[in-house]
Amino acid sequence: MISPDVKNYSEQLEKLGIEHSLLEHPQLIEVEDVQKYLGSTLAEAGATIIMKAGDSFVAIMRRGDCKLDFKKIKKALQVTNLRVATTEEFTNITNVPAGAAHVFYPTLRTLIDEKIFETEYINAGSGSLTCTFRYKTSDLKKLPTAEIVDISETTPNVPQKKLKDSYSILTGITPSGSGEVHIGNYLGAVVPFLELQKKADTVYFFIADLHALTTVQNKEEMQRNVENLVLSYLAFGIDTEKVVFYRQSDIPQHTELQSILNNVTPLSLIKRAHAYKDKLQKGADPEEINMGLFSYPVLMAADILLYDPDYVPVGDDQKQHIEITRDIAGFFNKTYGNAFILPDIYNIKESARLVGTDGKRKMSKSLNNYIAVFADEKIIKKQVMSCFTDPNRKKITDPGEVEGNPVFTYHRLLNDNKDEVADLENRYKLGTVSDIEVKEKLLQAILLKFKKERALYNELKTHPEKIKNILKEGATKARTQAIKKMIEIREKIGITNKYSQFNY
Ligand code: TRP
Repeated sequence: MISPDVKNYSEQLEKLGIEHSLLEHPQLIEVEDVQKYLGSTLAEAGATIIMKAGDSFVAIMRRGDCKLDFKKIKKALQVTNLRVATTEEFTNITNVPAGAAHVFYPTLRTLIDEKIFETEYINAGSGSLTCTFRYKTSDLKKLPTAEIVDISETTPNVPQKKLKDSYSILTGITPSGSGEVHIGNYLGAVVPFLELQKKADTVYFFIADLHALTTVQNKEEMQRNVENLVLSYLAFGIDTEKVVFYRQSDIPQHTELQSILNNVTPLSLIKRAHAYKDKLQKGADPEEINMGLFSYPVLMAADILLYDPDYVPVGDDQKQHIEITRDIAGFFNKTYGNAFILPDIYNIKESARLVGTDGKRKMSKSLNNYIAVFADEKIIKKQVMSCFTDPNRKKITDPGEVEGNPVFTYHRLLNDNKDEVADLENRYKLGTVSDIEVKEKLLQAILLKFKKERALYNELKTHPEKIKNILKEGATKARTQAIKKMIEIREKIGITNKYSQFNY
């Protein structure tokens, strides 16, 4: 249920031309919890706090992952006294519960930290603890009370590095789930990858099948997942001239290096790893967790360190693993002398994390709230038709809500016929178009958008020898580099000596 206050606030924003959609969730106070629930990150959250600056109150908006710099705020406001408002002051001014502040108060001077504008969309207050607005950040500039200033500490927690002129990147993808790619993966992972491959000089990209073994323990399932992923990425057009595309299990040096790195990796470091901790949190018995899961970050370190990449582009959920990789590389270098370059995280923008067809949670295969890219048309049709829309709309003539309506979210992101989208939105708001028609058009738009890719997918599927050759070429290139590194490592740790006969 959307409260009248929230509706009212939403109308105010609409009048100002500020694009926002509404995301509902259980009652949550902490920004971190809300974002977690919505499958989003702190970097995509905006938090508003009320402060007393000199004699008056101001609203301050910062990005969830940035810290405020009080000195800068004082300077911007030209005051010497600055403090956070008490809870009482907060509720008096905002009329909403603590933690739910709006972004806009007509009479309150508002400072927005400029870091907010580095993300295209941001989740922030709606006035209620059970819903969050997703704002188009550039629209926030239209707020009559807002001033955009630099008021955060210089480095947000995750620096988005300025890339070097010439660099190499490496990344992997785990064939868990079903290996099937959905439109959320396409927007969140495939598109950024296709962009990145244009910029980097060398790209290592592999299917982390050994990592999948922690959960996929069935032969047919593993084979299917790997096939789906390989076909999907090739169909999306990874540039195999530039990208070294291979399977992790084709390069035994990954596991060889893993077992060497095990010896410089403290238990305490691994016990802090998310994958392991999450599993414990879900109630798993620590004695039962398999060693593959426990040692997952060490294999990941090996995957990376074999190739000396400058950057590892990963989503937020994998950032900690890259930090662990840097730690492990550091321990090794300290013990044996420098052998590994410490890779930097290159954070893939996660603004494209997409809401699922249930209209509530992040699109994901395990929640079965997704729209596949390469499935049969019949299946995609079913997925589109089952999509959540405006639940308050009972008949065609009822005016419908477009914002926060996943069908329109998908239209905006995937339908290249912008006139059609605008027309559907208008008619939906007026109550002159049916849900069925909107969905039919979405289905057609998706099929058109991926027409070339879907054809290529099916064509590649009938030529396994072609795929095998591509992967063979990738594995040959990767192995050359991996072997070079391992010979150096074997030297360094003293396994190579005058009696050595080993050869790769
Ligand atoms: N664990 C990563 C994921 O699930 C995949 C992966 C394995 C990876 N090894 C890697 C990513 C090395 C980057 C670098 O997404």
